[in-house]
Amino acid sequence: MIRIENLSHDHDGVPALKDISFALDPGQKVTLLGANGSGKSTLLKAINGLIEPRVGRVLLWGRDVAEAEKDKEFRRELRSRTGLLFQNPEAMLFNPTVREEIAFGPLHFGLDNVDDRVAHWSGELQITDLLDRSPHALSNGEKQRVCLALLLAVEPDLLLLDEPTASLDPRSTGWLVDFLQNLPTTVITSTHNLSLATELGERCLLLGEDHTLLYDGDVLALRDDLDLLRQANLVHIHDHQHRKGDVTHRHYHSHDWD
Ligand SMILES: Nc1ncnc2c1ncn2[C@@H]1O[C@H](COP(=O)(O)OP(=O)(O)O)[C@@H](O)[C@H]1O
Ligand SMILES: [Mg+2]
Repeated sequence: MIRIENLSHDHDGVPALKDISFALDPGQKVTLLGANGSGKSTLLKAINGLIEPRVGRVLLWGRDVAEAEKDKEFRRELRSRTGLLFQNPEAMLFNPTVREEIAFGPLHFGLDNVDDRVAHWSGELQITDLLDRSPHALSNGEKQRVCLALLLAVEPDLLLLDEPTASLDPRSTGWLVDFLQNLPTTVITSTHNLSLATELGERCLLLGEDHTLLYDGDVLALRDDLDLLRQANLVHIHDHQHRKGDVTHRHYHSHDWD
């Protein structure tokens, strides 16, 4: 359903993605892991059709996303079947109240039961008490929940989440991880946090600082591959020498501060 073929991109000469290829099955939950600047946001925007890659193709449901530019019907289908949660949720909010924010997508796409959708998804995201508030006057964590609700109210088949836990406290992060596992939707979640990646799904795509796909596979196997993690600049490794009598121990410590 999602096939990325040899995707490369640069922003006016600044490299962002190099020869990325992978495919996803419907319903899969995948983590996109990479250090700052590795290309995570660029890749999610390319999948969503917001950026046209210089090289390669994004195929969603068998069609090249680039065709959407000329095909209005396909463009509409893409907009309703995919949802991208921006790294900065503020950029997605423009309605006077949270209620109108969540209702906007369903109204725009002519979906039925708009009020029921608002009630359902605000309940799921635990923001019912915020419905009459201005989205701009909320905390960043609350804004992120509102943005997730407005995306889910359209019930997309593919959800792209760009560092969604960046503003969340540990309890809210745990809640979001559980919430995502229970969605039937295909989800790609980006993060630079290795321990979060182990929670978000079995499969992990690792972007290197050279913007290539360094790894595509089981996240637990990746967690134990210190060389690869070091190459991706995701762990800090210190050599410690502990002296006990005349025995010297050298330990590698990996940290992933957030
Ligand atoms: N609009 C832009 N203009 C110029 N360079 C950009 C732009 N967006 C991203 N970049 C550069 O592209 C590279 C990848 O960025 P990005 O996709 O945002 O990475 P990540 O989301 O992993 O932090 C970085 O070097 C970044 O500075
Ligand atoms: Mg980013």
